[in-house]
Amino acid sequence: MSNMDVFVAVKSRRSVRSYLPDAVPKDKLDRILEAARLSPSAMNRQPWHFVVVTDKETRKALSSGHFAHFIEEAPVVIVGCADKDASPKWCVVDTTIAMQTMVLVATGEGLGTCWIGSFKEEDVKSLLGIPPSYAVIALITVGYPNEKPSLTRTVRSMIFRRRRLESIVSHDAFGNAYKCASQSIDE
Ligand SMILES: Cc1cc2nc3c(=O)[nH]c(=O)nc-3n(C[C@H](O)[C@H](O)[C@H](O)COP(=O)(O)O)c2cc1C
Repeated sequence: MSNMDVFVAVKSRRSVRSYLPDAVPKDKLDRILEAARLSPSAMNRQPWHFVVVTDKETRKALSSGHFAHFIEEAPVVIVGCADKDASPKWCVVDTTIAMQTMVLVATGEGLGTCWIGSFKEEDVKSLLGIPPSYAVIALITVGYPNEKPSLTRTVRSMIFRRRRLESIVSHDAFGNAYKCASQSIDE
Protein backbone atom coordinates (compact mmCIF):
# COMPACT_ATOMS: atom_id res chain seq x y z
CA MET A 1 0.00 0.00 0.00
CA SER A 2 1.25 3.47 -0.77
CA ASN A 3 0.24 6.61 1.10
CA MET A 4 -1.42 7.70 -2.09
CA ASP A 5 -4.08 4.98 -1.81
CA VAL A 6 -5.31 6.55 1.40
CA PHE A 7 -5.17 10.05 -0.03
CA VAL A 8 -7.18 8.99 -3.08
CA ALA A 9 -9.90 7.70 -0.74
CA VAL A 10 -9.81 10.94 1.28
CA LYS A 11 -10.01 13.03 -1.87
CA SER A 12 -12.71 11.07 -3.63
CA ARG A 13 -15.08 10.67 -0.65
CA ARG A 14 -18.27 12.72 -0.84
CA SER A 15 -21.41 12.56 1.25
CA VAL A 16 -23.76 10.31 -0.68
CA ARG A 17 -27.46 10.99 -0.13
CA SER A 18 -29.02 8.70 -2.71
CA TYR A 19 -28.51 4.93 -2.83
CA LEU A 20 -29.22 1.95 -5.04
CA PRO A 21 -31.22 -0.82 -3.35
CA ASP A 22 -28.36 -3.34 -3.82
CA ALA A 23 -27.18 -4.94 -0.58
CA VAL A 24 -23.69 -4.24 0.72
CA PRO A 25 -21.71 -7.50 0.25
CA LYS A 26 -20.97 -9.16 3.59
CA ASP A 27 -17.19 -9.28 3.04
CA LYS A 28 -17.12 -5.53 2.40
CA LEU A 29 -19.29 -4.78 5.42
CA ASP A 30 -17.09 -6.97 7.60
CA ARG A 31 -13.96 -5.13 6.39
CA ILE A 32 -15.60 -1.79 7.18
CA LEU A 33 -16.41 -2.95 10.71
CA GLU A 34 -12.92 -4.42 11.10
CA ALA A 35 -11.58 -0.94 10.33
CA ALA A 36 -13.47 0.36 13.36
CA ARG A 37 -12.18 -2.46 15.52
CA LEU A 38 -8.56 -1.66 14.59
CA SER A 39 -8.87 2.09 15.18
CA PRO A 40 -6.84 3.82 17.88
CA SER A 41 -8.37 4.72 21.24
CA ALA A 42 -7.11 6.40 24.39
CA MET A 43 -5.42 3.80 26.59
CA ASN A 44 -6.70 1.23 24.10
CA ARG A 45 -10.03 1.15 25.93
CA GLN A 46 -12.04 0.71 22.70
CA PRO A 47 -15.07 2.43 24.24
CA TRP A 48 -17.42 1.87 21.34
CA HIS A 49 -20.23 -0.26 20.02
CA PHE A 50 -21.71 -0.24 16.53
CA VAL A 51 -25.26 -1.26 15.68
CA VAL A 52 -25.52 -2.37 12.05
CA VAL A 53 -29.07 -1.71 10.89
CA THR A 54 -30.35 -3.33 7.71
CA ASP A 55 -33.99 -3.92 8.70
CA LYS A 56 -36.20 -1.77 6.45
CA GLU A 57 -38.69 -0.73 9.12
CA THR A 58 -35.91 0.22 11.53
CA ARG A 59 -34.18 2.28 8.84
CA LYS A 60 -37.46 4.04 8.16
CA ALA A 61 -37.85 4.83 11.85
CA LEU A 62 -34.29 6.25 11.91
CA SER A 63 -34.93 8.51 8.93
CA SER A 64 -37.28 11.01 10.60
CA GLY A 65 -34.61 13.72 11.10
CA HIS A 66 -34.75 16.83 8.89
CA PHE A 67 -31.63 15.90 6.92
CA ALA A 68 -31.89 12.13 7.20
CA HIS A 69 -34.68 11.06 4.83
CA PHE A 70 -32.21 9.04 2.70
CA ILE A 71 -31.52 6.67 5.61
CA GLU A 72 -34.56 4.75 4.48
CA GLU A 73 -32.96 4.25 1.06
CA ALA A 74 -29.51 3.20 2.27
CA PRO A 75 -29.19 -0.59 2.66
CA VAL A 76 -27.00 -0.24 5.75
CA VAL A 77 -26.91 2.25 8.59
CA ILE A 78 -24.19 2.03 11.22
CA VAL A 79 -25.06 3.61 14.54
CA GLY A 80 -21.97 4.64 16.50
CA CYS A 81 -22.32 4.37 20.28
CA ALA A 82 -19.74 5.59 22.82
CA ASP A 83 -19.32 3.78 26.14
CA LYS A 84 -19.24 6.58 28.72
CA ASP A 85 -18.36 4.20 31.58
CA ALA A 86 -15.39 2.66 29.75
CA SER A 87 -13.76 6.00 28.94
CA PRO A 88 -15.64 9.08 30.14
CA LYS A 89 -13.12 11.56 28.74
CA TRP A 90 -12.31 10.05 25.35
CA CYS A 91 -15.22 7.84 24.31
CA VAL A 92 -16.63 10.46 21.94
CA VAL A 93 -13.29 11.11 20.25
CA ASP A 94 -12.46 7.40 20.01
CA THR A 95 -15.84 6.47 18.54
CA THR A 96 -15.66 9.33 16.05
CA ILE A 97 -12.20 8.23 14.89
CA ALA A 98 -13.48 4.67 14.40
CA MET A 99 -16.45 5.92 12.40
CA GLN A 100 -14.39 8.08 10.05
CA THR A 101 -12.01 5.16 9.55
CA MET A 102 -15.02 3.09 8.49
CA VAL A 103 -16.06 5.86 6.09
CA LEU A 104 -12.66 5.82 4.39
CA VAL A 105 -12.55 2.03 4.12
CA ALA A 106 -16.07 2.07 2.68
CA THR A 107 -14.89 4.59 0.09
CA GLY A 108 -12.03 2.26 -0.78
CA GLU A 109 -14.57 -0.55 -1.23
CA GLY A 110 -16.42 1.55 -3.83
CA LEU A 111 -19.28 2.36 -1.47
CA GLY A 112 -20.90 5.68 -0.64
CA THR A 113 -21.43 6.96 2.90
CA CYS A 114 -22.88 9.92 4.74
CA TRP A 115 -22.48 11.04 8.31
CA ILE A 116 -25.82 11.78 9.95
CA GLY A 117 -26.16 14.06 12.94
CA SER A 118 -29.83 14.65 12.36
CA PHE A 119 -31.42 12.32 14.94
CA LYS A 120 -32.92 12.44 18.41
CA GLU A 121 -30.62 10.50 20.70
CA GLU A 122 -33.36 9.28 23.04
CA ASP A 123 -35.46 8.04 20.11
CA VAL A 124 -32.52 6.12 18.62
CA LYS A 125 -31.62 4.64 22.01
CA SER A 126 -35.10 3.35 22.69
CA LEU A 127 -35.61 2.11 19.11
CA LEU A 128 -32.39 0.07 19.18
CA GLY A 129 -32.29 -0.82 22.88
CA ILE A 130 -29.02 1.00 23.49
CA PRO A 131 -28.07 0.92 27.21
CA PRO A 132 -28.17 4.20 29.22
CA SER A 133 -24.37 4.24 29.69
CA TYR A 134 -23.85 4.69 25.93
CA ALA A 135 -24.10 7.96 23.97
CA VAL A 136 -25.17 7.87 20.34
CA ILE A 137 -22.44 9.78 18.50
CA ALA A 138 -23.67 9.67 14.91
CA LEU A 139 -25.10 7.45 12.23
CA ILE A 140 -23.48 6.64 8.92
CA THR A 141 -25.27 5.37 5.86
CA VAL A 142 -23.49 2.86 3.62
CA GLY A 143 -24.48 1.68 0.15
CA TYR A 144 -23.86 1.90 -3.56
CA PRO A 145 -24.34 5.49 -4.75
CA ASN A 146 -27.28 6.19 -7.00
CA GLU A 147 -25.31 8.53 -9.22
CA LYS A 148 -27.11 11.68 -10.27
CA PRO A 149 -26.23 13.35 -13.60
CA SER A 150 -22.83 14.89 -12.98
CA LEU A 151 -22.77 18.41 -11.64
CA THR A 152 -20.95 21.14 -13.48
CA ARG A 153 -17.48 21.93 -12.23
CA THR A 154 -18.62 25.32 -10.89
CA VAL A 155 -21.52 23.88 -8.89
CA ARG A 156 -19.31 21.11 -7.54
CA SER A 157 -16.71 23.59 -6.34
CA MET A 158 -19.44 25.64 -4.58
CA ILE A 159 -20.88 22.61 -2.80
CA PHE A 160 -17.65 20.91 -1.86
CA ARG A 161 -15.48 23.97 -1.27
CA ARG A 162 -13.09 23.78 1.65
CA ARG A 163 -11.26 26.54 3.45
CA ARG A 164 -7.73 27.08 2.21
CA LEU A 165 -4.95 25.24 4.02
CA GLU A 166 -3.27 28.52 5.00
CA SER A 167 -6.41 29.58 6.88
CA ILE A 168 -6.62 26.45 9.03
CA VAL A 169 -2.96 25.69 9.71
CA SER A 170 -0.35 27.68 11.69
CA HIS A 171 3.37 27.10 12.00
CA ASP A 172 4.89 26.78 15.51
CA ALA A 173 2.30 29.09 17.11
CA PHE A 174 -1.35 29.82 16.41
CA GLY A 175 -1.63 32.50 13.73
CA ASN A 176 1.93 32.21 12.33
CA ALA A 177 1.68 31.65 8.60
CA TYR A 178 2.20 28.13 7.36
CA LYS A 179 3.61 28.17 3.83
CA CYS A 180 2.29 25.45 1.54
CA ALA A 181 4.61 24.02 -1.09
CA SER A 182 1.66 23.47 -3.39
CA GLN A 183 -1.79 24.91 -3.92
CA SER A 184 -4.67 23.55 -1.82
CA ILE A 185 -6.38 20.93 -3.89
CA ASP A 186 -9.88 22.14 -4.72
CA GLU A 187 -12.19 20.36 -7.11
C1 LIG B 1 -20.91 15.09 12.40
C2 LIG B 1 -21.55 15.23 11.03
C3 LIG B 1 -22.93 15.25 10.94
C4 LIG B 1 -23.55 15.35 9.69
N1 LIG B 1 -24.91 15.26 9.61
C5 LIG B 1 -25.51 15.25 8.41
C6 LIG B 1 -26.93 15.04 8.32
O1 LIG B 1 -27.63 14.88 9.30
N2 LIG B 1 -27.49 15.01 7.08
C7 LIG B 1 -26.73 15.16 5.94
O2 LIG B 1 -27.30 15.10 4.85
N3 LIG B 1 -25.37 15.35 5.99
C8 LIG B 1 -24.76 15.38 7.20
N4 LIG B 1 -23.38 15.52 7.28
C9 LIG B 1 -22.57 15.64 6.04
C10 LIG B 1 -22.04 17.05 5.83
O3 LIG B 1 -23.09 17.89 5.42
C11 LIG B 1 -20.92 16.98 4.76
O4 LIG B 1 -19.87 16.18 5.24
C12 LIG B 1 -20.34 18.36 4.40
O5 LIG B 1 -21.33 19.18 3.82
C13 LIG B 1 -19.18 18.25 3.41
O6 LIG B 1 -19.57 17.57 2.24
P1 LIG B 1 -18.86 16.22 1.80
O7 LIG B 1 -19.00 15.22 2.95
O8 LIG B 1 -19.60 15.74 0.59
O9 LIG B 1 -17.43 16.51 1.52
C14 LIG B 1 -22.75 15.46 8.51
C15 LIG B 1 -21.35 15.45 8.62
C16 LIG B 1 -20.76 15.32 9.87
C17 LIG B 1 -19.26 15.26 9.95
